[in-house]
Amino acid sequence: MSSDAPRGVFITFEGGEGAGKSTQIARLAETLRTVSGREVVTTREPGGTDRAEALRAALLRGVAKPYGPFAEALMFAAARIDHIENLISPALSRGAIVLCDRFSDSTRAYQGAAGGLDPALIDSLERVTLEDLRPDLTLILDLPPEAGLARAQRRGAGEPADRFEAEGMRFHERLRTAFRGIAEAEPERCRVIDADLGPDAVEAAIAAAIAARWPDLLPAAGEGQGEVGKEREGQGHAA
Ligand code: TYD
Repeated sequence: MSSDAPRGVFITFEGGEGAGKSTQIARLAETLRTVSGREVVTTREPGGTDRAEALRAALLRGVAKPYGPFAEALMFAAARIDHIENLISPALSRGAIVLCDRFSDSTRAYQGAAGGLDPALIDSLERVTLEDLRPDLTLILDLPPEAGLARAQRRGAGEPADRFEAEGMRFHERLRTAFRGIAEAEPERCRVIDADLGPDAVEAAIAAAIAARWPDLLPAAGEGQGEVGKEREGQGHAA
């Protein structure tokens, strides 16, 4: 993408299992389309393109698990490269708003902090995978892992847990700590959203975060609105 090309807006959603990201992405996409009139592209990782979706199916079945976290991280990176080249970068070049369910922070949290992969290795992999692409805003949906896993299980009723849902509670606690750590380390880019509230309150908190950053996309709600579950930089959820 040349520097004078129109550049869209790249927003990523992160968090542990069952945080409600897909519901919130669908709601935000609808709101942004209606209010801003801009093109909004919703996508997910791993996945988003045919080739990356094929890698997703293998990854979630646990095909790469026996090879260890580095091999898994490489496979996530392979999917990400295809996704960036064929979907994310072209959409941003058109000036679209791209809402992506998980991105490189998931590799840092899942394969890095929780999976035990050396952070220096993750950094190197991130540099070659992303080149100069970084999310403009990352919304980290934060909730206790027990609550998230219970939601994920209800959602997939009858289906066996996938590769990562099946990890133990300590893994999921490390994930939560990792995502909060990312938010603390990069407060300019990240906002922690309390996802342990009802979907309407979470939606309001997300809208407030977008309006604060891009008032031209989404005007701020009236005084008092959006206070529920208000965005908090680099903090965990409060009761
Ligand atoms: P998904 O069903 O989309 O999970 P969720 O609904 O919780 O977002 O499956 C994606 C899984 O892949 C999820 O458990 C997180 C994991 N993952 C990684 O381990 N590393 C990554 O880089 C990405 C993008 C996802």
